[in-house]
Amino acid sequence: MPSLHDAARGRILFGGDYNPEQWPEEVWADDVRLMEEAGVNSVTVGVFSWAMIEPRPGAREFGWLDRLLDLLAAHGIGAVLATPTSSPPPWMGALHPETLPRTEDGALVNYGSRQHFCPSSPVYRRYAAALTEDLAARYADHPALTVWHINNEYCTHCWCDETAGHFRRWLGSRYTTLDALNDAWGTAFWSQRYDTWAEILPPRRAQYMRNPAQELDFKRFTSDALMECYTAERDIVARHTPHIPVTTNFMPLWSGQDAWAWAEQEDIVSVDVYPDPTDPHGGQYNAMLADMTRSQARGPWMVMEQAAGPVNWRDVNHPKPAGLNRLWSLQAVARGADALCYFQWRQSRQGAEKFHSGMLSHAGEEGRTFREVRRIGAELALIGAEVSGTEVTADVAVLHDWDAWWSSTQQGRPSSLVSYTELVQTWHRGLWESGISTEFARPGGDLSAYRMVLVPQLQLLGDAAVDNLVAYVRGGGTLVCGFFTGVVDTDDRIRPGGMDARLRELFGIRTVHEWWPLDAGATVGCDGFDGTLWSEELEPDGSAETVAAYRGGELDGLPAVLRKGTAWYVSTLPGPEALRGLLGRVAADAGVRPVLEGLPPGVEAVRRGALLFLLNHGRSPAAVELPGRYVDLLTGEAADGGVELERYGVAVLGDVRA
Ligand code: GAL
Repeated sequence: MPSLHDAARGRILFGGDYNPEQWPEEVWADDVRLMEEAGVNSVTVGVFSWAMIEPRPGAREFGWLDRLLDLLAAHGIGAVLATPTSSPPPWMGALHPETLPRTEDGALVNYGSRQHFCPSSPVYRRYAAALTEDLAARYADHPALTVWHINNEYCTHCWCDETAGHFRRWLGSRYTTLDALNDAWGTAFWSQRYDTWAEILPPRRAQYMRNPAQELDFKRFTSDALMECYTAERDIVARHTPHIPVTTNFMPLWSGQDAWAWAEQEDIVSVDVYPDPTDPHGGQYNAMLADMTRSQARGPWMVMEQAAGPVNWRDVNHPKPAGLNRLWSLQAVARGADALCYFQWRQSRQGAEKFHSGMLSHAGEEGRTFREVRRIGAELALIGAEVSGTEVTADVAVLHDWDAWWSSTQQGRPSSLVSYTELVQTWHRGLWESGISTEFARPGGDLSAYRMVLVPQLQLLGDAAVDNLVAYVRGGGTLVCGFFTGVVDTDDRIRPGGMDARLRELFGIRTVHEWWPLDAGATVGCDGFDGTLWSEELEPDGSAETVAAYRGGELDGLPAVLRKGTAWYVSTLPGPEALRGLLGRVAADAGVRPVLEGLPPGVEAVRRGALLFLLNHGRSPAAVELPGRYVDLLTGEAADGGVELERYGVAVLGDVRA
């Protein structure tokens, strides 16, 4: 199977989305000159060029793309060539309105923006396949072609009639009989029983709360329907170029695609990362996305998009202070990225994204943004050979699962203040702040390589996943599990006793009598810390140790944190310091060490292959003591016993062996 390695060939790929169709061709020569200056070796082309290539049904205008790819090849710049199928031309919507998506209210989503296609539409799929076929045939042997990029950020949802039929077919293969579907969806409730398949709809706007199992299946279906669009195009390009790796770019922590399942269908796993420059946890968020994507990729992965400066889709769009782009870029590399790309190369002058930054901003080649980009390009060239292809390892896994996420968003739950993604981020932060290297894993996956496994929250757990967790602990693994886990099965059906019985036995819980969610800002006293967001009325079975009990209030004296051997259950959300302390303590017991001891706050240490990356997320300089003799690959200077990092500073240290 082709991989990122084939495209990177011992380098870090560096570049970005390149949309030269927005510029007169004279500008292209300037583009490649500046790309070469900045060390750009890869650009993503064609993402939004459907209307340029096929200006009317069946037409093919490849001349400009021929000239562009020839130009790139002549300058040794590789092309990540996109199938332009995420933004159909206006003629398609005008001629075939049935290709346009409909909202859950039945409203038509018009063309005039992007991503306006119904994933179930056979007409859309036919046009997309025909164009992909011709694109792949034409450029299969082009020397610039290094990676196929299918579509862009698959994120469309549709509730139209075509989708309804497709959904029914999907349900038919999942359940075979209507009885099985009625049982799985619990349609005895509120007179929802279906008598024929034709009655079943996508969960459209309804009078009151909708059926949560139907919604869960619709989310599964939508991820699968989009994946069919992806695999159809992937199979076409792979037939023409079996040696060229294929990817599609994920949105970060995006609920619409089960990224574990999608990643299995990709040669390269790529993601678009846009931490907010003003978010005090931006560095950890970036680390988390890197850990997640690396885990999905099972190795080196690709930053397909990031921003060199401000984005244009937040309420207030802040630029990146000097040094932050470099810091987050090298952080991604430290955490396994072998490709570091931006949206986009040259900042647009027109259109909805003209206020979104580019590598080459409106300030031009003398602008601060471009100077920083040039520096990053030069540094990647320095370290590329040593870094590319090397691994990042971790003793700890955080479990993450789309089914559980989807089930956690349903209406009518105990607290709408509980956010699955925030919990994942909060628990990951507990480890990140303790300097512990982390991966992500699926609840049903092989956990044997990890000394410690964390479950921030998995409301839905299937039987196989439950058995997997139990077997992991029985095999000596350390499991720390957050509240409201194992509550429903894969049909979203409640498991009696407030939690799966096998898990209750694992943690020493006889019954979960009630969930006691907390109001915003409220806390519940516990031994040694305050809990937030949630608490639980647990009746222990006597086999577990109460590590901390609730103090005061209704739950006074009942266990808040339980431990039975190496299985821990945390029934509230401890504040950040307490969570960090708890995870740090359990990690130490499990033999998990931080990457480097005694780091100043805000400094992150990551080992990748033989290199040690030090990254200062603080706004002031930091001094780091080192346990040996190193050389900083970025400066060539010795770092014996310690190194000084400027604000947002980075050192990439190689061991000096005697
Ligand atoms: C991504 C998208 C790009 C661009 C970017 C702006 O979601 O793939 O095309 O719109 O956001 O941040």
